[in-house]
Amino acid sequence: MMASNIQHLLEQMTLEEKISLLAGASAWRTVPIERLGIPAIKVTDGPNGARGDSSFAGGLPSAAFPVGVALAATWNTDLIEKIGNALGEEVKSKAAHVLLAPTVNIHRSPLNGRNFECYSEDPFLAARIAVAYVKGVQSQGVGATIKHFIGNESEFERMTISSEIGERALREIYLPPFRAAVREAKVWAIMSSYNSLNGVHCSANAYTLQQILRDEWGFDGIVMSDWFGTRTTGQAVNAGLDLEMPGPTHWRGESLLRAVQAGEVTEEKINERALNILRLIERVGAFEETAPREEQANDRPEHRALIRRAGAESAVLLKNEAVLPIRPEKVKTIAIIGPNAKTAQIMGAGSAQFQPHYAVSPFEGIQARAGDTYSLEYALGCTNFRRLPVPKPEQAYTLAYFNNADLTGEPVVSESTRSLEQMWMFGNLPAEVNPNEFSARLSGEMIAGISGTHRFSVACGGKARLYVNSRLVADNWTDPNKEPFLFGSGSDEVFGTVTCQAGDKLAIRVEFSSPAGQFLSAVRVGYQEPIVGDPIAQAAAIAGAADIALVFVGLSSEWESEGYDRPDLELVKEQNALVSAVAAANPATVVVLQTGSPVTMPWFGEVAAVLQAWYPGQECGNAIADVLFGDVSPSGKLPQTYPVRLEDNPAYLNYPGDNDRVFYGEGIFVGYRYYDRKKIAPALPFGHGLSYGVFSYSDLRLSRAALTPDQSTTLSIAVTNSGDFRGQEVVQVYVRDVKSSVLRPEKELKGFAKVDLAPGETKTVEIVLDRESFAFYHDGQQRWMVEAGEFEVLVGSSSADIRLRASLTMLEAAAFEGRGHTHYHLDTPLVKLLQDDRVRKVFETHMPDLLTKGSGGAFGGDMSINGLKAMSGGFSDEQLAGIGRLLEHISD
Ligand code: BGC
Repeated sequence: MMASNIQHLLEQMTLEEKISLLAGASAWRTVPIERLGIPAIKVTDGPNGARGDSSFAGGLPSAAFPVGVALAATWNTDLIEKIGNALGEEVKSKAAHVLLAPTVNIHRSPLNGRNFECYSEDPFLAARIAVAYVKGVQSQGVGATIKHFIGNESEFERMTISSEIGERALREIYLPPFRAAVREAKVWAIMSSYNSLNGVHCSANAYTLQQILRDEWGFDGIVMSDWFGTRTTGQAVNAGLDLEMPGPTHWRGESLLRAVQAGEVTEEKINERALNILRLIERVGAFEETAPREEQANDRPEHRALIRRAGAESAVLLKNEAVLPIRPEKVKTIAIIGPNAKTAQIMGAGSAQFQPHYAVSPFEGIQARAGDTYSLEYALGCTNFRRLPVPKPEQAYTLAYFNNADLTGEPVVSESTRSLEQMWMFGNLPAEVNPNEFSARLSGEMIAGISGTHRFSVACGGKARLYVNSRLVADNWTDPNKEPFLFGSGSDEVFGTVTCQAGDKLAIRVEFSSPAGQFLSAVRVGYQEPIVGDPIAQAAAIAGAADIALVFVGLSSEWESEGYDRPDLELVKEQNALVSAVAAANPATVVVLQTGSPVTMPWFGEVAAVLQAWYPGQECGNAIADVLFGDVSPSGKLPQTYPVRLEDNPAYLNYPGDNDRVFYGEGIFVGYRYYDRKKIAPALPFGHGLSYGVFSYSDLRLSRAALTPDQSTTLSIAVTNSGDFRGQEVVQVYVRDVKSSVLRPEKELKGFAKVDLAPGETKTVEIVLDRESFAFYHDGQQRWMVEAGEFEVLVGSSSADIRLRASLTMLEAAAFEGRGHTHYHLDTPLVKLLQDDRVRKVFETHMPDLLTKGSGGAFGGDMSINGLKAMSGGFSDEQLAGIGRLLEHISD
């Protein structure tokens, strides 16, 4: 359909029909208008896989890709574009049209619960990854939704807090990934955030949704609210929110009709919003679809290969004292230790969570790679779970549903399941079940593996109780735990124990009831076997007897989630003690760290190597094995600085906020911009990451060493791999403004390139810098500026490992975008007034005296016209008023 056709369609619609388009019909769908052949379109979460209609756990599986921070750690935009393509295919396989991703909020504090989902502390890196991702998704005819716009850098009070962000930080740090996605990737949708920005809710913020997004950047897609994140009727429509999600509407429909009738919203605004929705329906090809599509689970070999490659490429080798890669000449026995060894940690929690096709654990990946060449030993060492893990039943369980609150009478339907965690949200229940009030019984059997005291728990959204062998073991029914189930902090369980012998049969029966009006209905059984002996000592013992010890520690989706932040920077439970004990038993100890954010590593000096492996998706164990055994040389680089301690983080004094506000007090000094400027050594710098190759840099050349703002310069750098392993290196280019009229960071990332080099090979990489590479946002003048003068170009392997430098001269100043706002008044410092040729000329002609008075004296640059009057009289009231008017006139 052509633009003129959607315009024509709009003209045929009644006001009510247009309004109906502006809110969802249900959780993931928009409202169709059959009379005019306007189809509903379907959206789906999320950044690392397309979930479709399924809930967060269970349901139809999907391909699980590496999480956001892992994608950014690849610094490989070609690869990210391919992942975007694959995600686009996944969205189509789930009969959807729009992906609710990418998440590009900035890593301001390492405690942000959604750190794993976001890309980086650096806006340039985040923007490059976002552009590649969006292009990849949209090339499949699927819409991407960049989110959350804007200032959603933590989960603390996320629905109500106001992010107080200064204009310069907003422009230089927080907006760039969105701006690049709009300008360069032409993203089709944006999701507004739950929070307010400087006191105005982001779903109804005319400054961000109209002025910045549409007037300045030319955005022609739709803005949808985050789920249940709309707060007003007329204000949101007027400000620029096209679509309220999810449906059915709570703010629009009748209420919006009344607002139009009352003249609060014009029909033109409704037309504008409705046309945006029609344009999206057109862009995703929904007008051409002839029949409804069914959701499918397509476990495709190409996706498996791509995910494995991306997982391996995202791993960052933080340290390596010649123990990696593992080689058969040196190693026969491998000790595999730790809570994340046999449990594949592949994603964080929240809306980005879903049922993967499968998940290869590190142990399985290593076992597959090791074959007969190596012998493997395993010890758990310690646990790192928050809630007791959900047991994996040997046989299927029966799940029976009742259409009443207390399991009376015959079930209306029964099904079989292998999951002891069930969630029902947005009506994903069998058709026979009344979603407004139901109860369920989950029954089956497990066999005790060992003798002793077994721990059980039951958590729920609703109420639930657990019986083992007909005895009530955990009661979350009589007086249900009030802690929220989903995205809770983990204190929602009720516990009980069962003492039995190995081989005993345990009949499990869980009763669950969902009262009327329950938003999320869920039940979850947790289980832990008896702990025998001292697990850390057992781990140290097998480590001592092996040639190398691999310790798999980290966090998990229980600690890193949407809905809450991490409490501190520590690795949880006894993992630090475990690593130290293993390291003491074997000098060849390698830590594989799986987190989505920085943790402190008190044992860093005790171990031989550390590999940061993130949450790499369904191929987790295979991707990690590829790197450990040297089938792939590590090439990831940290997208976020790892601080020595939380107190060093720039957001520390302004996090998480109070009195409904969080001040972004560090301004533009986020991440390495702060550590550099304050000369605080981090534990690991931004951009750090080692390789099995050895790279040297030489021959830095600039196509222009002097340029004007409308010109660009191309840097060329020769990179040589003088090591024995093939590998990829990320060449990073930082720019430093040697002298500036405003405070600027010591250096800022403005370019990078990833290059693949065989042993002995040299390649020349090219990186282009243009005026954006030298610009800063002048918040007085409200526009971007480049100042004339000297700049330095720093080329390195990390932000702290600069290998080459060159000087460059910007020949002229320039200002671009924005209003060029200057406001002169009687208190403006004279030195500043005199920098403006227009003011200087007037003064030269009419008040030559001022020039001498203003050029120094006891008060130097601080002196203003009012100040001169205060000190020495000097001006009559009329003169003062005249100068005031003149300055007002010159201001623009
Ligand atoms: C999240 C969004 C997500 C939406 C739909 C919200 O809670 O913040 O990122 O896309 O839910 O699931």
